[in-house]
Amino acid sequence: MAEEKWVLMVTAQTPTNIAVIKYWGKRDEVRILPINDSISVTLDPDHLCTLTTVAVSPAFDRDRMWLNGKEISLSGSRYQNSLREIRSRGDDVEDEAKGIKIAKKDWEKLHLHIASYNNFPTAAGLASSAAGFACLVFALAKLMNVHEDPSQLSAIARQGSGSACRSLFGGFVKWNMGNKEDGSDSVAVQLADEKHWDDLVIIIAVVSSREKETSSTSGMRESVETSLLLQHRAKEVVPVRMLQMEEAIKNRDFTSFTKLTCSDSNQFHAVCMDTSPPIFYMNDTSHRIISLVEKWNRTVGTPEIAYTFDAGPNAVLIARSRKVAVELLQGLLYCFPPKPDTDMKSYVLGDTSIVKEAGLERGGEAPQEIKDKIGSQDQKGEVSYFICSRPGKGPVVLQDQTQALLHPETGLPK
Ligand code: DP6
Repeated sequence: MAEEKWVLMVTAQTPTNIAVIKYWGKRDEVRILPINDSISVTLDPDHLCTLTTVAVSPAFDRDRMWLNGKEISLSGSRYQNSLREIRSRGDDVEDEAKGIKIAKKDWEKLHLHIASYNNFPTAAGLASSAAGFACLVFALAKLMNVHEDPSQLSAIARQGSGSACRSLFGGFVKWNMGNKEDGSDSVAVQLADEKHWDDLVIIIAVVSSREKETSSTSGMRESVETSLLLQHRAKEVVPVRMLQMEEAIKNRDFTSFTKLTCSDSNQFHAVCMDTSPPIFYMNDTSHRIISLVEKWNRTVGTPEIAYTFDAGPNAVLIARSRKVAVELLQGLLYCFPPKPDTDMKSYVLGDTSIVKEAGLERGGEAPQEIKDKIGSQDQKGEVSYFICSRPGKGPVVLQDQTQALLHPETGLPK
């Protein structure tokens, strides 16, 4: 086989996800087993996703990976564990047209090339590792003819990054913490698909941040070691919230969904403050966005917008309907207008039809009733940009070969 020169490739697209009941804290650092269950919403891959091409060829002399065009090392244990797990499940593959035959046992010897690309800035702190590991595992499973179902694949993606396991499904996803020592029951399952609650609109405010943030991995390790609040949260609070959140999603009960989402985000950040030394992920802009949403919901009387923040200052806002999303965007652009030299096309990304509907293509004034909902403020320049999205589908294989990130003959980045 060493003489042969063929290259076999698969390209896949995988969404990112945002937790509404947060994962924070591991009971096993190597297998990445959490101390509590969590729930997330998958974001539409049209707006935020990772694209990964995986290739195998007898001509490759070692495993290699490129992330956003730059070669990165695969020597870390998270990559090594994920690659080992998926390789051991590979099966026979035959491509008659190309005259390719790979036997199950060959996967241990054959080398891989992997190229991955995020359709959003990696540095923006938008869970790029979640989509990245999920896409790697999903694409390799297709290439290697792995028969495991998405939940079983989620247990492999989990070993790359915990939150990655929830990106194997679309819609609303639960990660069961499991209790087995080997982690085989710590898997993700789908609670409802993306069509179940499709009135929801998600607006992400990418907030400028000056400081280098503590990574989720080290932040949660420090919380496990020092925060008593985290112990209480994992034992007493999350189990009750999980049941309530599953009910809220099942019944599309936005009032309960908002209450739980906001409380859980706030408790996660309270745990960070309770960590020694304390960790601050949110900044003044994040706090201002919280106040804006709280005021809005109080003015209206029933919750219309939920907020949640991960390990960084970006706000993820979930609007109950498109009508609310249009008003919310008007309000946000009123409070956080683009800098004079920034045009709307580069300030609001994703589903820009909302910009049109809000009549904001060339900027513009927010109606008085919107100003009344948020109070008047002008925070120029503190938000880098917004992304409009919605709940979206899970991973897919892309059949269009022109979208592959690796060259079909050399297996090197295009
Ligand atoms: C705040 O999955 O990034 O986003 O498992 O160490 O890779 P590792 O951590 P990671 O943590 C995500 C934490 C969070 C909450 C969540 O997504 O549930």
